[in-house]
Amino acid sequence: MRKGPVLSHPVTMELHGDIAVIQVSNPPVNALSQAVRAGLSDTVTQAAEMAEVKAILICCAGRTFVAGADIREFGKPLMEPSLPDVIDQIEASTKPVVIALHGTALGGGLELALGGHYRIALASARFGLPEVMLGLLPGAGGTQRLPRLVPMSNAINMITSGGQIGAQDALEFGLIDQIASGDDIRNASLGYAKTLIETGAAPRPTSRLVCNPPEPGAMDAARAKLAKSARGQIAPQKALDALRGAIDLSFAEGLAQERALFKELMASDQRGAMIHAFFAERQVGKLDEIKGVAPRDVQTLGVVGGGTMGAGIATNALLAGLKVTLVERDSEATDRAYATVSGLLEGAMQRGKLGEAQYGEIMSDCFKTTTDYQEFAQSDIVIEAVFESIDVKKEVFEKLDAVCKPGAILASNTSYLDVDAIAAMTARPEDVIGLHFFSPAHVMKLLEIVVADRTAPEVTATGFALAKTLGKVAVRAGVCDGFIGNRILSHYRKALDGAVIAGASPFDVDRALVEFGLAMGPYAVSDLAGLDIGWATRKRLAPRRDPREAYAEFADRLCEMGRFGRKTGRGYYLYGEGRPAPDPEVDGIIAEERSAKGVIARALSDQEIVDRYMAAMVNEAARVVEEGIAQRPLDVDVTLLNGYGFPRWRGGPMYYADTVGPDKILRDITTFAAEDDFLWQPAPLLQRLVAEGKTFASLNT
Ligand code: 3HC
Ligand code: NAI
Repeated sequence: MRKGPVLSHPVTMELHGDIAVIQVSNPPVNALSQAVRAGLSDTVTQAAEMAEVKAILICCAGRTFVAGADIREFGKPLMEPSLPDVIDQIEASTKPVVIALHGTALGGGLELALGGHYRIALASARFGLPEVMLGLLPGAGGTQRLPRLVPMSNAINMITSGGQIGAQDALEFGLIDQIASGDDIRNASLGYAKTLIETGAAPRPTSRLVCNPPEPGAMDAARAKLAKSARGQIAPQKALDALRGAIDLSFAEGLAQERALFKELMASDQRGAMIHAFFAERQVGKLDEIKGVAPRDVQTLGVVGGGTMGAGIATNALLAGLKVTLVERDSEATDRAYATVSGLLEGAMQRGKLGEAQYGEIMSDCFKTTTDYQEFAQSDIVIEAVFESIDVKKEVFEKLDAVCKPGAILASNTSYLDVDAIAAMTARPEDVIGLHFFSPAHVMKLLEIVVADRTAPEVTATGFALAKTLGKVAVRAGVCDGFIGNRILSHYRKALDGAVIAGASPFDVDRALVEFGLAMGPYAVSDLAGLDIGWATRKRLAPRRDPREAYAEFADRLCEMGRFGRKTGRGYYLYGEGRPAPDPEVDGIIAEERSAKGVIARALSDQEIVDRYMAAMVNEAARVVEEGIAQRPLDVDVTLLNGYGFPRWRGGPMYYADTVGPDKILRDITTFAAEDDFLWQPAPLLQRLVAEGKTFASLNT
């Protein structure tokens, strides 16, 4: 017997023989909104009451199983029924409940699955508890049920990292019972439910299982590891507390403790910051200028220059399935580029990101290096990554303009140069765009899409589509020296150099900012990138430097001594065996500059260093927003989070400014201006927001 739908959208139930099929349909990702929770609760109640129903099947329509709680409801009053209650109700069903999984079962979605009695998944399905990435922990039984099904070490990994696992691992760990053959999850799960009924399979509540014990010392080891890998973050440590409850407490007590910890995190600033980051990353690509504009098709990609960036970009594109042709200056350089790219791909293979067969295929069919620009004739897009010199760029763009097919996009990876000027070197400025990758290009998430005056919307749309293919977060930037990120970086670096001249050492600055949450201090980062890069830029900009600028010279002094950072064994730090060491010689160079400038060094507190860093960053970011270089404050946040190591749990500089208050930032600027009133000129936008009592967030909509 087959009955029609009992309940309508977003949760429906229909009978297939003696199986009640409950389907969630809440596009785009079947998030567990109040309506879905209520629908699940109602349909499970109905199925329980229907005598003819022998088993319940919960599945999802669309591209994925439930991807979690509805994040948009966070921070608002809870609307009944709560997710933990719905899951408890499902688990308590006296009829076996089968969960049919496809797409990504994440967060509350996976917790829902854990509340079922049997789980079947497509081979392509993925599973994760990403709550820590939102500053939370699984709050609907995940920390209690998962370690009852899978070994504790796997539960710790999944819950504290937020990472995903595939179906094969899920089966091996005991998270699912079966992988469906084929790609029709509905049919496969109906077959599975039928077999369960035929074999008299009983409900199998996860909560009744005994928690898998940790290896001796595993919890302490995980805590110590997290103290480093998730430094500053509260959620992963609290998630461990909740997991500890699964070992030490009864299921009901463990669940209650998990709920209490979840509520604590829900009220935290870190949760607010990380959810801001989540939505901001989905908002950046929503731009009026490309709304409804179809991107051009990109299958083949050219790269000019196979140095640090070109090789990384080529690797990124190859891993994303594109065909890549790389042009270098001579055969020695092409050989070097080929070796770099194959080395990077081998690294990806070692990390399990690429199979051996795929590697072979890429190297034989998809990647070519050459010195002949004619090989770009059929490329859909060519990205230039040659030396940062306008003359070299000119030579390259003229060649590209001559050989590339009509409609091919010509992109520059320049860090600072004028993309309008580069576009004007060609007869097709509407096809020219800046695509600013970050080093290492195959790893870093950020891609600044620099839209020049004459760039066609279709070309901008293609930039965003390409970013998605490459797995990047793309931010639209306007043309100026350094675009969004490097322009702000240049400014806060001047402020930090000012702090050093005032009395802090570069090592004090790095320590204070690492403590604040950066992965690495700015001076250590300079050493890594090579101090010569900044030196070249400063020399290029020297003729335009305002005479009122309090120019700190110690970086130039280091470069004049051949101290280019890690690659020369010394920069700000000394590099030998072990950890990089602060170098007294650097202190000496700085002390000389202070005395030449008549500055008497004073001690700066870590808080003052952070305040200077943040005030300079926010002030320049306000200018960047006001000039339209960044579209909104959230674009700045996404840039700094994904390209500059700004701690995600602080939400980005503009979000941070709102949490401390724009007025506090303005007050700091006024204070620091007493020392250097040229650098510390308040941005008009910041002044206006403070005068009107508004936040940066008010400009995001
Ligand atoms: N709640 C509300 N909206 C969500 C959402 C969620 N959990 N997950 C995604 N969305 C929205 C996005 O904001 C986006 O909306 P938009 O089109 O208006 O911008 C839309 O769904 C599509 O999302 P993506 O652009 O990210 O689509 P992708 O296909 O690239 O990725 C995804 C899909 C992998 C599911 C990704 O969206 C994702 O990772 N979502 C978050 C998953 C998550 O963190 N779940 C845990 C939530 S917390 C929780 O469950 C608490 C529980 O323990 C009690
Ligand atoms: P690099 O010096 O490592 O590589 C440049 C490569 O270009 C060299 O291999 C060189 O042989 C090649 N080349 C020079 N002229 C050429 C020509 N006419 N035809 C073909 N190949 C040519 O430089 P890097 O660091 O890769 O930088 C490249 C570009 O990327 C620059 O514009 C830089 O500003 C930008 N960039 C650099 C970042 C970094 O962290 N290194 C980050 C983001 C952008």
